[in-house]
Amino acid sequence: MTSSDPMTSSDSAQQPAKAPAKDPWDLPDVSGLVVGVLGGTGPQGKGLAYRLARAGQKVIIGSRAAERARAAAEETGHGVEGADNAETARRSDVVIVAVPWEGHGKTLESLRGELAGKLVVDCVNPLGFDKKGAYALKPEEGSAAEQAAALLPDSRVTAAFHHLSAVLLQDPGIERIDTDVMVLGEERADVEIVQALAGRIPGMRGVFAGRLRNAHQVESLVANLISVNRRYRAHAGLRVTDV
Ligand SMILES: NC(=O)c1ccc[n+]([C@@H]2O[C@H](COP(=O)([O-])OP(=O)(O)OC[C@H]3O[C@@H](n4cnc5c(N)ncnc54)[C@H](OP(=O)(O)O)[C@@H]3O)[C@@H](O)[C@H]2O)c1
Repeated sequence: MTSSDPMTSSDSAQQPAKAPAKDPWDLPDVSGLVVGVLGGTGPQGKGLAYRLARAGQKVIIGSRAAERARAAAEETGHGVEGADNAETARRSDVVIVAVPWEGHGKTLESLRGELAGKLVVDCVNPLGFDKKGAYALKPEEGSAAEQAAALLPDSRVTAAFHHLSAVLLQDPGIERIDTDVMVLGEERADVEIVQALAGRIPGMRGVFAGRLRNAHQVESLVANLISVNRRYRAHAGLRVTDV
């Protein structure tokens, strides 16, 4: 060992005692946060809004047109409100992006100011469809989530909720959504807020799945799930085992 070796015994003797590792399931209380959903008039956004509101979260559905958002909110019930996307972003602590990939970049670029300082949760799956089925597109930035991070330098961008079935989310007869949600992000505190939000929905669990540079695989996996759904006539979800 040389004196510059970080593991010399004299150095390690001077290290302060390590804090005990944090329990990864010790998640924050998110019950007071307002959640906005951009593109919340579509099946995914409306389904998420419904599930979160049904679990007691304050939710605002966003749309390019305020009246469409208000109609979707009224239909959803559970105290959900509707507003245009800009007002939704302004009034929310956490903003879920549930617009189609085709409108993703333009939508986020136009809301950069309103989304500054907000925790943004991207659930967009860039997919193409042809006669062989669904396939993953390759965004220039690497993934939809990385495109969001590039366009929103003043926001805290995470990615989650990619693998949910909007059909199950919207079905009021279904009590539990038995699936894990992979949550990606750069800051542990932000990831834990999103994990905690997912955990408010009965049956659902948020699991940390890496940094945004690994979002492409998570977004792409939806193409596989669509193949599963078509073959087995299912609404497949995912479970990460042994955690
Ligand atoms: N459907 C699912 O099961 C599912 C599951 C996981 C993730 N996702 C992801 O969630 C996102 C939304 O899925 P979805 O099926 O709900 O989509 P969608 O119905 O096609 O779109 C959602 C909403 O986005 C708005 N919108 C449409 N085109 C737009 C554009 N060019 N720019 C901005 N906003 C636009 C529309 O609302 P207004 O006209 O009211 O503005 C629409 O109701 C997608 O990116 C998808 O990959 C979907």
